[in-house]
Amino acid sequence: MKRRPLLLGTIAAAVAAVLWAKPKDRGENHSPYFEDMSTALDTRGQAKPTLVIDRSRLLANVATLRKHLQGRFDYRVVVKSLPSLPLLQEIMAAADTQRLMLFHQPFINRVAAQVPAADVLLGKPMPVAAAANFYREFEGGAFDPARQLRWLLDTPRRAQQYAALAAELQQPMRACIEIDVGLHRGGVQNDADLIALLDIIGNSPWLSFAGFMGYEPHIAKVPGDPIGHRDKAMASYAHYIEVAQSHLGADWPGDVLLNAGGSPTYQYYNEGEFPFNELAAGSCLVKPTDFDLPSLADHRPASYIATPVLKTMDAVQIPGINLGPLQGWWNPNQARSFFTYGGWWKARPESPAGLVNNALYGRSTNQEMLNGSRNIDLEADDWIFLRPTQSEFVFLQFGDIAVYENGRITDSWPVFTESSA
Ligand SMILES: Cc1ncc(COP(=O)(O)O)c(C=O)c1O
Repeated sequence: MKRRPLLLGTIAAAVAAVLWAKPKDRGENHSPYFEDMSTALDTRGQAKPTLVIDRSRLLANVATLRKHLQGRFDYRVVVKSLPSLPLLQEIMAAADTQRLMLFHQPFINRVAAQVPAADVLLGKPMPVAAAANFYREFEGGAFDPARQLRWLLDTPRRAQQYAALAAELQQPMRACIEIDVGLHRGGVQNDADLIALLDIIGNSPWLSFAGFMGYEPHIAKVPGDPIGHRDKAMASYAHYIEVAQSHLGADWPGDVLLNAGGSPTYQYYNEGEFPFNELAAGSCLVKPTDFDLPSLADHRPASYIATPVLKTMDAVQIPGINLGPLQGWWNPNQARSFFTYGGWWKARPESPAGLVNNALYGRSTNQEMLNGSRNIDLEADDWIFLRPTQSEFVFLQFGDIAVYENGRITDSWPVFTESSA
C-alpha cells in the first residue's frame, strides 16, 4: 500500500501552507528620524495629539513642484489642503505666488482680511447666499474683491443668481466658469450651456468673465493609460476655449485665467503644449497617504500626527474573546497593545513600524488600541506617529500645527477656524 507516503505528503504540504500564511513580524522601533521628532516634542512639553509639519521637507516639496513647472505655468496653492495662514504664507513665499484656490466662505473672508495681495479663485461654486455672506462680512482694506476674487459659476441658473446679487450690491464681480473635462463632478458639459453662461455674464453690467477651471484628477485614477486620459481631457478643455473665444471675439479677456490640475496630475504636464495657463496643487506639499502615487514619487511625506502612548499591555485582551497567547503566536504583530491619546483619525500608523488597528476590539476617538510586535519597545508617554490619509479635514483637528525643523519644534502655526474671532 502506498497510502501512507501520500497522506504524509499532504500533511507536510498543509503545514507548509499554514506556515507560509503565518504573518511575518513587521515590528521595529522608531527610526532616528522619529526618535528625534519624539525628543523635539518632549522638549517642547507637548503632551497631546499634535499635527507636525516637517518644514525642510515641506520646502523641498515646494522646490520639487517648481522644478516640474519650470515657470511654464503659474502656480495656485490649494488652500483647503493646507488650511493654515502661516503655512500658506510659507508656501507662497517659497513658491513665489499670490494665487490661492479657496473652497470655504469663512476662509475667503479670512484670506481677504489677512492676505491683502492674494489672488483668489474659488475651487467650487458657492451658493449665492454664501457669496452674499462674504460681502456682508468683508471688512474692507487693501484686498479688492472686484479685482482679486473670482467666483466660480457652473450653471446658467447660478450665473443668474450671481448677476442678481452683483446688481443688488452694485458690486463688480469676476467669474470663472467650471468646465467638465471628464471628472463629471459638475461644470459645463455642453456648448449650449457654456454660451448661455457667457451670455448671462456678458449681459450683466456687474459680472465679467475671467476664465475657466477644469479639474481632472480622474486621469491619474481611472484604469487605462493616463496620458490617453490626459489628452482627452485637454482636447475637451481646448474645445471649450475655442467655443468661448469664437463667441466672445474681442471680449475674450486678455488676462484670461485657465486653471487645471491638482496634486495627482500636475506632473503629467512636465512636457508638451497644453491649453491652460495655471496649475493648482496643495496636498503634494505635505503628502498624505492618499497621495502615495507613482505621479508623486519625488514628493516626500511632510505631515504627521504625533500622539502620546497612554497605556501598554504585553498582550492583546479582548472582552468576551480569550484567544490567550495563541493570537500573538499566530500573528506576532498582535503580541502587544498600545492605547493612544485620541485616535480614529483619517490616518494610518507610520512609526514605530508594524502597528495595526484591531478590528475585533474596535476603534476609538478617545483611547485607541493599536497592536504591535514584541520588537516594539514603546512605553507609556512615548510617541506614536501616524500619517494622515488626507490633509484638508485632518489638519483642522489638532489646534496649532507644530513646525519641526533640525531636530526642534521651531514654530506653532494656527489653523483656520470656523469662527472669525
Ligand atoms: C478644483 C480643484 N483643483 C485642484 C484640487 C487639487 O488639490 P490637491 O492638490 O490638494 O489634491 C482640488 C482638490 O480637490 C480641486 O477640487
